[in-house]
Order: sequence, then structure tokens, then C-alpha cells
Amino acid sequence: LTDPLVLFMPSGKRGRFPKGTPILDAARELGVYVESVCGGRATCGRCQIEVQEGQFAKHKIVSSLDNISVMGGRERRYVDKRGLADGRRLSCSATIEGDLVVDVPQDTVINAQVVRKSPIERTIERNPAVQLCYVEVDEPDMHKPLGDLDRLKAVLERDWGWEDLLVSQHIIPTVQATLRKGNWGVTAAIHQDLDSSRPTIIALWPGLHNEAYGIACDIGSTTIAMHLVSLLSGRIAASSGTSNPQIRFGEDLMSRVSYVMMNPDGRVAMTKAVRGAVNALVEKVCREGGVDQDNVLDAVFVGNPIMHHLFLGIDPTELGQAPFALAVSGAVHSWGSELGLAINFGARVYVLPCIAGHVGADAAGAVLSEQPHHQERMMLMVDVGTNAEIVLGNSQRVVAASSPTGPAFEGAEITSGQRAAPGAIERVRIDKDTLEPRFTIIGSELWSDDEGFEADAARLGVTGVCGSAIIEVVAEMYLAGIMSEDGVIDGALAARNPRIVADGRTWSYVLHQGTQKILITQTDVRAVQLAKAALYAGIRLLMEKLGIDHVDTIRFAGAFGSFIDPKYAMVLGLIPDCELAEVKAVGNAAGTGALMALLNRDYRREIEEVVRRIEKIETALEPRFQAHFIHAMALPNKVDPFPKLAA
Ligand code: FES
Repeated sequence: LTDPLVLFMPSGKRGRFPKGTPILDAARELGVYVESVCGGRATCGRCQIEVQEGQFAKHKIVSSLDNISVMGGRERRYVDKRGLADGRRLSCSATIEGDLVVDVPQDTVINAQVVRKSPIERTIERNPAVQLCYVEVDEPDMHKPLGDLDRLKAVLERDWGWEDLLVSQHIIPTVQATLRKGNWGVTAAIHQDLDSSRPTIIALWPGLHNEAYGIACDIGSTTIAMHLVSLLSGRIAASSGTSNPQIRFGEDLMSRVSYVMMNPDGRVAMTKAVRGAVNALVEKVCREGGVDQDNVLDAVFVGNPIMHHLFLGIDPTELGQAPFALAVSGAVHSWGSELGLAINFGARVYVLPCIAGHVGADAAGAVLSEQPHHQERMMLMVDVGTNAEIVLGNSQRVVAASSPTGPAFEGAEITSGQRAAPGAIERVRIDKDTLEPRFTIIGSELWSDDEGFEADAARLGVTGVCGSAIIEVVAEMYLAGIMSEDGVIDGALAARNPRIVADGRTWSYVLHQGTQKILITQTDVRAVQLAKAALYAGIRLLMEKLGIDHVDTIRFAGAFGSFIDPKYAMVLGLIPDCELAEVKAVGNAAGTGALMALLNRDYRREIEEVVRRIEKIETALEPRFQAHFIHAMALPNKVDPFPKLAA
């Protein structure tokens, strides 16, 4: 008779096992990650699974609750004490008695976007770099003079298979007290990132310790975003963000590099500022999630190259000038204590690799999240900031570059530009006949010609235009015939329309006449043209590199991408022609990538390998950049066709 077949979902891994095999053992053998802290003593409750009932034709399995053992003593005791949700069983105690389809509940990870679009849900299979292992250590014996720590290591090897364990130095002085306090039962946190690295005891608690958390953090030049996640369930306990306090040293990246170059203590001050903000955020997410900071055992960081360097305490001066040399491009393995992080003293830190001098670990995180290297179709990913990071490719080849778009897309250097905040104009439409605008402001659901808008406007003010509105208003001005395809505002309209007003020798469009007049000037239009031309020229260079004339799908990463309407991005020629339905905003993809690397160390190896083979292009050195740039100054482009847009 053949042994029963067991199929694990969602991984789809399966195998045959003799009747009576604990389901946890079968999972282990197949490499299915099921958490266990107590080592199968039915006390931690971490190994829960669910049995699916029904016929699974493809796998020829009839799975039913009759094929799993009835609840035995240990499991019963657990249920009496702690309870179990309907349908759940402890896989360390329940055994295989027939064919089974076993669901390993992956507490679904939500990509909590910092924006107002609907969140993206995805499931990340867990294989964290830190595991909790409960053991019961033999009491000391005068006749076997093995040290307490040595007996702990021996039992961790015997019960959990950890060979060749290292021990963090700070644990050693505490071992004896911890063992006695736990009455010889202790929980060790073991860290192993690379399969080839030696596992290390990084924390030790008396008794059964059932909580292990990690943080995934994206350090942006403007905003720092963080998730606090249970390493045992994958559940996000809290997510939050804060503004990067380095802004006081300079709005954009280059001004921060200059600050370091001009001030002897500049680097130290900026490192201190960013680490301080990270620590404040750790405290905040832990408070919100009801988690003791001491239970944070692993941390993953992403950031653009300059943020990456400053966070690690590296002088970013070299990144301010050609050849834009990174101090370190590979992944960084470090310790929370070395970086002054307010988490468990033994906690580890992993920083994703940087792709190039201007394409950072944040872009690597976005690659991990969107997976262009697994696509058949050609995917373009853009993260628009003062410096746009661009990645293009598919399973065959991936190329990356950055483009100096400047701060126009963030609302800086625009007459009435401002950051996205309540009161900022967000959406704009212009009537083609009357040239009258309608708009919305952040904080109100209403359009400016809706009833009740006046009250909202009085409450919030109409304060300026944010980045997404700048794209829309310029595109709408073009569509309404207010300006030519070269971006010149038509002064002849002023004679018959009060919305067009003289502004020195050029013309402006009056978007709003309130206490504060909001104008879109010729200079503003130029700033948008320069920014979009730089972005598009960078994208075209990469397309040329791959020898392609169109892309199949476009992903906008970052907050800015989530606000802009793809249609307007294409009307302006920010991005190449593409099916509109294939242009998607993916929110903080860099943060999602960090989360993936936190929950599953296989993703760390994946991104390290992908980054090694991404071909990097330095736009500043490419002679074709200038030609593409000049063509891209026109709306949408002087030479490149936009057939899908026309359709
Ligand atoms: Fe701890 Fe099953 S492994 S309860």
C-alpha cells in the first residue's frame, strides 16, 4: 500500500508520508515553512494549519478531516488553555492518517500604501532570518563539567538541528541567570541569513518566549516609511511614516551632499538626524502595535544611494560627482546596536544592495516587489522624485538608469507649487470652449463647481498646486489649446479670455482667483517640460539599449506615481506610449520589497543576484541623451509616435 499523499497550500509542495507522521515533520521535510517556537511541545501554538476538505482532481487527492488524527492529549490541553480558531489544528501534534490537503495560513500581508488608492494585497511566504527555539536544557552535573552555555548549544543542536552555533557576546554573561530563571527552559532567537553563514544566538529569554518582530523601512529623502511585522505570523502589526528631518539640511539630495561637503560635521549631523527619525518611528510603530521594542529582532532597510550612505554613516561626497562611486553596492549585513537602533541589542540589520550611483536600494526593493525579471513582457518601472530611478526589462535582460528630473514634479520651483497637503489643488479639468477650470483640493471630495465646495475651500483654503495637479493642469492646458505643442502659452487668447493674462513678456493661465491667485506661468510650463523631457530621455535610452520601440506595461512606484493620472502622464509624454490599462501605480514598492526581504531571506538572495546582472547606464555619459531630451521637450514628443494615446 502506498503512503498517504500530502499537499501543502499555497506552496503546492507535496509528498508521501507514512501514517502517523506529524504534519509539521512532513512540512519540514518538504521545505514548507511552518513556524514552531516550542519545538513540537504543543505549547506555543505557532504551528497551526487547516485541512481543506474535498476532491482535488488535479492531484488525485480526496482530503477530509477523517484523514487527520483526532485531537490528542497535548493538543487538547493547548485548546483548553488557549483555544484554537475553527478548523485550525496544531501541526506538531496532528498526524497524517490519509491523503490531505493542508493549508498553511499565511496571514496575508497588506501593502499599506501611504496613498489614497486601494491597497494591494499579496501573500509572502515566510522564511525569516530569525527563528525562536524553545529548549529544555539539562541541569548541571558535577560529573559532566560542561558549561551551561555549552549544554544549551548541545540541546539546540539535538532538538532543532542547529549545528556549529555562534553566540552573540552580550548573551554570554546572562546565560546562567536566564537558564535558572526559566527553570532550565529557555527560548533562543537564532539568526541565520545566508545558508553558508553560521547560525548565531542573538537573544535569550527564560521560559517560552512567543514574540518575534521585524521592521521593514524605506528611508526616502522626504519621507521615512516603516512596517512592523510579526516574524512568526507575517502579520503587519503597524505601519507609519514620518518626514525625514534631514530636510532642514537641504530639500533635495544634492543639497544634502553639498551640506556634507561644506560642513565638517555635516555627515555626522545628518546620520544622527536620520537614525533619530528611524528610532522615533520604531517607537511609534511599536506603541501602535502594542509590541515591546525589545522584541524587534531583525530589520531591513532600503533607500536611495545618498540616504543609504548617510544612514550607514558613510560620507556621500563621492555620489555628488562623476563617476558617482558608491562606497558599497552589495547588500550590507549589520547589527542594530552598531547603528544605534532602539531595538533588541542582538537584532540584525540587512540593507538591500544598491543598483548604481543614482539607482539605490529603494529601486532594488521596487524590483523585488514588481519582479520585472520574472516577466515575459517588457516592464518599465519609474520612481519619480527629484531624481527619477528607471528600471526596464523582462526575464531576459534588465537595465537601469537615473534621470535628473529636478524638483518640478514635487511642486518645487513652480510658482504656486507645493507639497501634497490639505488645500492643495489635486485634479484639474479645463473646458475647451470657455477655458474655465474645474478642480479638486486635497481634503475635499468635491469639484470646484459642485455645491458645497465653497465651504470646503473656506475651511481648507486653496493654497497651491501639488505635483499631480501640475501634470494635469499643463496637460489640460495643452488639450484645451491654451498652448502649442512646444509648450508656448498662446497670448492671442488674452484678448477674448480673462483666464490668460500677461506676465512680463510671456503669458500665464489663471487657475484660481481667490484670496490667493493661483497662476500657471510660462516658466512653470517650461519647468514641467524640462522635468518630463529628462525622464523620457532616460527611458528612451534604456529602450534603445534593449533595442525595443515600445513597452508592454508601466509601473509607477513612490507616492508621486500614485497621485498622477496615467492618461495625463502620457498626454505630456512623461512615459512612452502604452496601453492605458497597463499603466499602474504601485505605491511604496520599495517598502514592499523591504518587507519581502524581511519575511523571507530567499528574497535577499534573489535581489542580490538580480542586482548583479542589471545593466547600469549612466545617462549623463550617453551622447544620445541630449537628442532624446530635445525631442521630448515637445508635447507629447517631437518625433516619437503615441498611437495608443491617439486611439
Ligand atoms: Fe509549538 Fe506546535 S510547535 S504548538
